[in-house]
Amino acid sequence: MKIGIIADLHLPKKEFPPRPEPGKKPEPLPDDPVTAGVKAFYEKAKQEKYDFVINLGDLINGTDNEDDDYMTAMMFSRSMISSTVNTYYVLGNRDAMCLPKDLLLHCNKNLGGAYSFLKDGVLFIALDANYSCDGKSYETGFSDWTDSLIPAAQIEFLKNQLERTDFEKAVILCHQRLDLFMDGLEHVNPHVVSNAEEIRHILEQSGKVALVLQAHYHSGDDTVQNGIRYYTQKAFFKNLSYSVLTASSDGFTIEKEEI
Ligand SMILES: [Fe+2]
Repeated sequence: MKIGIIADLHLPKKEFPPRPEPGKKPEPLPDDPVTAGVKAFYEKAKQEKYDFVINLGDLINGTDNEDDDYMTAMMFSRSMISSTVNTYYVLGNRDAMCLPKDLLLHCNKNLGGAYSFLKDGVLFIALDANYSCDGKSYETGFSDWTDSLIPAAQIEFLKNQLERTDFEKAVILCHQRLDLFMDGLEHVNPHVVSNAEEIRHILEQSGKVALVLQAHYHSGDDTVQNGIRYYTQKAFFKNLSYSVLTASSDGFTIEKEEI
């Protein structure tokens, strides 16, 4: 199983061509470099027969104008619909702060953007950490990206999923970081979910989680903590970076690539 991983596209505001003269067609504007890069990525995904793509969130950069953000996300999603490679989306903080959560991913009232899917014996569990510490789901206009949480309903969901007996190994997907990442010796870095310690404990107890795929921390990272690998995908908008995850009976390997 071969899987393409992208994250943090931070698409700029979609610009539209000026209104044409009467009777003439509008001249399309060239794509911005990130959109052009994503199209090249999907072309590669098709050619190299990736089974699917995981997009770890923060599709848009966000502006102060909700209509502009909506249009940027919609135009991009529309251009992706024609791709023959399926994408599993994970909600990022910018998505949830600038757009209704339901726009990019069909959300559940209790679980928000959390869901799971099973492929070739691997259970993928996507989490939605776009909640503030008081348990409230992010809404448009909320702006404190350092305040993130996996709420109680998702913790139950995660435990229940990991108790399933129909999978060999699990891969956890989350936009924000779940590994322990310190600022110096005193503070947990704000890219880490506030209750990550509790989540890590659940993952470790299950004994079946091999890998956590995360994003949000734009430089990327790769750590192993208590036997679980935490791979932080580098932001796509930086150097058009992506990764290819290969899952086989020997385990998981990840190659770092650039367009
Ligand atoms: Fe983010």
